[in-house]
Amino acid sequence: MTIADEPALFFNPLQPGYLDDPYTHMGEIRNAHPVHMIIDRWGLFRYDDCFSLLRDASLSVDDEKSDVLDSERADQFRIAAEAEGIPFEPNRSMLTVDPPDHTRLRRLVTKAFTPRSIEQLRPQVQQLVDQSLDSMQADGVADVVDRLAFTLPFDVINLMLGMPEADKDKIKDWSGAIVKTLDPILTPEEVAAATVASIRMDAHIADVIEWKRSNLADDLLTRLIEAEEDGDRLTTKELAAQVALLFIAGHETTVNLIGTGLFELLRNPEQMSAWRADESLGTNAVDELLRYVSPVQMSRRVATADLEFQGQHIPARSFVLAILASANRDPDKWGPTANDLDLGREGAGQHLAFGSGSHYCLGASLAKLEAEVALQSFITRFPNATIDGVPAWNGRLNLRGLESLPLRVG
Ligand code: HEM
Repeated sequence: MTIADEPALFFNPLQPGYLDDPYTHMGEIRNAHPVHMIIDRWGLFRYDDCFSLLRDASLSVDDEKSDVLDSERADQFRIAAEAEGIPFEPNRSMLTVDPPDHTRLRRLVTKAFTPRSIEQLRPQVQQLVDQSLDSMQADGVADVVDRLAFTLPFDVINLMLGMPEADKDKIKDWSGAIVKTLDPILTPEEVAAATVASIRMDAHIADVIEWKRSNLADDLLTRLIEAEEDGDRLTTKELAAQVALLFIAGHETTVNLIGTGLFELLRNPEQMSAWRADESLGTNAVDELLRYVSPVQMSRRVATADLEFQGQHIPARSFVLAILASANRDPDKWGPTANDLDLGREGAGQHLAFGSGSHYCLGASLAKLEAEVALQSFITRFPNATIDGVPAWNGRLNLRGLESLPLRVG
């Protein structure tokens, strides 16, 4: 592309107001340049393009198959790791490897996440939600992100994995710094902070695995350890990478669905009333909230051959982002009401909030169960809840959500 061809309008998520409302800007880009270069990677802003990208099994998720991607960023990670005295190693979780490794790793944990297995957790999820709501009710005011949206998914994934008691605040800080690396733009300070946090998290996970070896139980961590002990199913490094992924993905995403979802319900009281009046809306309501808030705003692939979208050539070995949040608001897919929250929307479940294709979110049923129980219980218990202070965004471009949502519930 020559300078003369460069679009005058470019995607700039660092512009003021973007965190409050990324959708207006995404809409401008989707209309003007739906296949758009974002610094060193391509971004796809239309639903159909994102869908095709994610469903194309010939593409890769392995960063090392890209020429351009992050050479500078990888160097920054390497330097930051070496400064800590630790050699830098790329992550090998199922999210970043291709078949046959991807198929083998995913198969090891799929059973625990089927809709049927997850449904069995409903009573425990309800109990955890009720405890949170009881304590908020007793206080009258509460930051609902801290007291419900974060705590619930964190406690549930801990329970499923069978993790020991740990310092929640410390882990929250580490995983916050780590997931920031999913953003398309990072400062050197954020890279350094994420590297240190990964080293601490890896050490913590290694301790947890050692602890579990002498405390085997009926949980997911034990099953993964058994697969590792079996030898050819899981290496020790892979074991640690999968535990870290499940642990982090298990709470850093659903917190945004519950927190931002509740915020949007409070901003759309007629929708909240409709749900309160008709509990059977629950499943569709959660899908519509997933579409509307896109807790994961973008997902990545590496082109293994030349690609073409909307007439734009994308060379092999490019790094390509499916901008899920834009796809989920694309009027070509959702019609003129794409930017409205409509809990009864037909076809809401066709959103791309969980991705699509072979890496489709493994935890989708779990996230939906947690959100349905948390949100439905909240709106039923606290029909007069109001925002009591200034909600704060978490500053993340990809795992966008609220850091705090102060509410008066009594
Ligand atoms: C609202 C909550 C959630 C959202 C929006 C979400 C979103 C996503 C997305 C978009 C992907 C696909 C990434 C890609 O295509 O490259 C993904 C993958 C994944 N998610 Fe979730 N997720 C959520 C909750 C969870 C939970 C609760 C877990 C439980 C452990 C989980 C575990 C995973 C795993 C393991 C993968 C990788 C699957 C693979 O590579 O085959 N997620 N998620």
